[in-house]
Order: sequence, then structure tokens, then C-alpha cells
Amino acid sequence: MQQVTRTPAPSEVADEWRKRAERAGLTRVMRASQPAELAAGTTARTIRLVTGFLDSLGEVGSALEIGCGMGRLTPSIAAHARAVTAIDMTPRMLSLARENCAHLSTVDFVRTTVQRLPWQDKRFDVAVCVWVLMHVLDDDEIADACRAIAAAARHLVLVEYEDAEIPVGRFSRLRTVEEYLALLPGARLLDRRELDYGGDRSFVALIALDDPR
Ligand SMILES: C[S@@+](CC[C@H](N)C(=O)[O-])C[C@H]1O[C@@H](n2cnc3c(N)ncnc32)[C@H](O)[C@@H]1O
Repeated sequence: MQQVTRTPAPSEVADEWRKRAERAGLTRVMRASQPAELAAGTTARTIRLVTGFLDSLGEVGSALEIGCGMGRLTPSIAAHARAVTAIDMTPRMLSLARENCAHLSTVDFVRTTVQRLPWQDKRFDVAVCVWVLMHVLDDDEIADACRAIAAAARHLVLVEYEDAEIPVGRFSRLRTVEEYLALLPGARLLDRRELDYGGDRSFVALIALDDPR
């Protein structure tokens, strides 16, 4: 995979995700270079870590899943919240996620980017964002995304790679949890765990977001 470090045009990013949505199975949202069993095992561990943090918040009324992809994690989030709104910028990913959640009446889907979340007054109890923000390369865009998340939710479960031997995607930029905390207005780290995927390490962070407005 050819890694791109310059800031890509929005149309290039959209095109990349449109193509990835045409891949098979979990390779749409995970590494095509890793064996399927490892992707499945990593998914199971991700679900345990994310839902463990959701449980620690007590009763969750509303959850916002940011960048839901094919809906790999959406049913597990829905099992821990009364209502879930799942967003993604890629139409085909959203239709796959809808199919994966067809049996669930508490999940809604919205096509939008994380930088431009459409809610002005609503605050979700928690946002869950797994392996999405690293794909926002531009400094202004990631600042917009983090401001939008802090305005939209009271807590954030954030999973992002911190160390990876091989490129995580064609467009990706690894940041530490401290960098994200600095970008998220009103953020406080409550807890963190580690997630290993084929020797590469992501942080799994539970973050409180004090209302920045
Ligand atoms: C690596 S996949 C992860 C999907 C899901 N979170 C998971 O863990 O299975 C990244 C997803 O984020 C979406 N995405 C990338 N950049 C985005 C942005 N700026 N706003 C909204 N969605 C975005 C892509 O369309 C893709 O579905």
C-alpha cells in the first residue's frame, strides 16, 4: 500500500473509502494484510474493551458512533445504550451497517463527516470513535472534528493507533492520546487500555468532555 502523507483532497479520501467498502468482510475496515482470524479476534477484544467502558458509565441513554463503517461494532454498542445514532461519510459503508443492524430498532444512521456533525443543541451521553480520527490528516480539519465531538457528547470512547510498524491506511496520521486530549476542548482522561493488532498498538481511552460552550 502506498502511504500518502500530504493532505489529500476531500474527493480522494471519499474515493478511497468508497473503494474500501467494496472489499470483502472485515478487510473493509481492518487491514487486508492480516489473517481473517486475527481480525476477528481483534474485533472481539475491541468490543470487550469498548463495552467495558460503556458499562462503567452506568445507564447510557444515547450513544453516537462516529465512523461506524460496515457496522462491525454497532450492534455491541446498541446492546449497551437505549438509542444509537451511527454516522459515516461513506454511503456504501452506511448501507452495509444498516444491513448488519436490520434487526435493531434503536439504531439510526446519518451520513455526515465528523468535522461537520449536524447537531447544534443535542449532547449524546457518549460518543464512540474507533480508528477514524487518524484518517483526518489536516490540522484544521482534525481541530474541527475534535471541537464537533466535544460539543456533541459528554464522554468519548476513543480508539486510535499510537504505534504501527506498517501504514494503517493509505491516508493516516498517528497521534498520541495526549495530542487528542489537547485537541478536544474540556477533555479529561478517565481511563486507558491498550489494544494490540498483529504487533501494532492502539490506545483505548475513556474521556470525559466537560461542556466547552
Ligand atoms: C477504519 S474504518 C473504521 C470503521 C469502524 N469504526 C470500525 O472500527 O469498524 C474508518 C471509517 O471511517 C469513515 N470515515 C473516515 N473519515 C471520516 C470522516 N472524516 N467523517 C466520517 N467518517 C469518516 C470511513 O468511511 C470508514 O467507514
